[in-house]
Amino acid sequence: MRALCPILACVLLAACGKAPAPVTTETATGTAAAEGDPVEGLRVATRVGCNGCHAADGRGGGMDFTSPAGDRIVAPNLTERRERYDDAGLVALLREGRTHDGHRAFGMPIYMFQHLSDQEVRDITAWLRGLPSVANPGLAASTLSAATLKQIQDGTFPYDQDDRPDPGNRPPAMRPAGMLALGRHIALTSCGECHGRTLEGWGADDPAPSLVMVNKAYTPEKFARLMRTGEVAAGGTSKTGFMSETARRRYAHTLTDEEISALKHYLDSR
Ligand code: HEC
Ligand code: HEC
Repeated sequence: MRALCPILACVLLAACGKAPAPVTTETATGTAAAEGDPVEGLRVATRVGCNGCHAADGRGGGMDFTSPAGDRIVAPNLTERRERYDDAGLVALLREGRTHDGHRAFGMPIYMFQHLSDQEVRDITAWLRGLPSVANPGLAASTLSAATLKQIQDGTFPYDQDDRPDPGNRPPAMRPAGMLALGRHIALTSCGECHGRTLEGWGADDPAPSLVMVNKAYTPEKFARLMRTGEVAAGGTSKTGFMSETARRRYAHTLTDEEISALKHYLDSR
């Protein structure tokens, strides 16, 4: 969603809701659980943005954005849509973007979610199933303009590949343990929405820079400070405020110290 990302972020963040309680060591380092853990699910869902776009309580509308071309993209009410999915259906949605009726999940960063581990998907599923039902009668539906629909049909839609999964992607069963692999995992499942599929940015016209480049200005201490408080390396708030706000909403209360170190370690290796 290269074209949509900048404005999108602002919409999402505005509606992000309150952050979850800080994680305890048990949930952060939890080992192989056969069943999904809703507490861990909330932690992952917050980090990867489910409860930003779909609002903190899942009622939808955290993302409600109209593009200059007239496409309106609205994140639906999860507490209603979940009824249409069994657990395998949710796996197909998050990994392949396959919705319950086969329509395209336009606006969901599937290229990011495709990397979630089997266990993380089970945890997110447990969180999703545990949300109290909430009605949101005023919520609009996504509508694509005739021009965009035609472009999609013709295969000329310029951002067509941006939200699709990689062919043949093989997600891990469990979150990887080694520092480098863990850092890569956190980066690919958390940062790509705005910093691009390969973390090298979506292009010069996008406000989110290449992570590989900007990372060079960060010592491990400054990087940890950004993730925990939103303060950038040069001091103060990020240029547009998006990054500082994203860090405070999504990462400050969800990433463990180990995950932040691993993420930095991985970015340094690029
Ligand atoms: C960047 C915003 C964004 C993020 C992040 C996001 N979603 Fe969505 N989601 C959407 C939009 C937009 C739609 C509507 C897609 C459509 O139907 O065209 C959607 C649709 C859905 C649907 C309903 C699909 C259907 O059949 O109608 C489910 C379920 C869902 N998302 C779950 C999730 C989960 C779980 C996560 C986190 C892993 C997540 N979403 C993260 C934007 C987002
Ligand atoms: C919702 C969108 C979004 C997500 C998700 C996101 N970023 Fe950013 N990031 C931005 C934007 C936009 C900027 C440019 C600065 C600004 O305008 O806020 C940025 C800038 C940065 C910078 C440079 C800040 C500076 O000016 O020194 C770093 C470092 C960074 N991001 C790290 C990360 C990491 C690490 C992740 C994942 C854990 C991540 N970002 C996820 C939007 C995002």
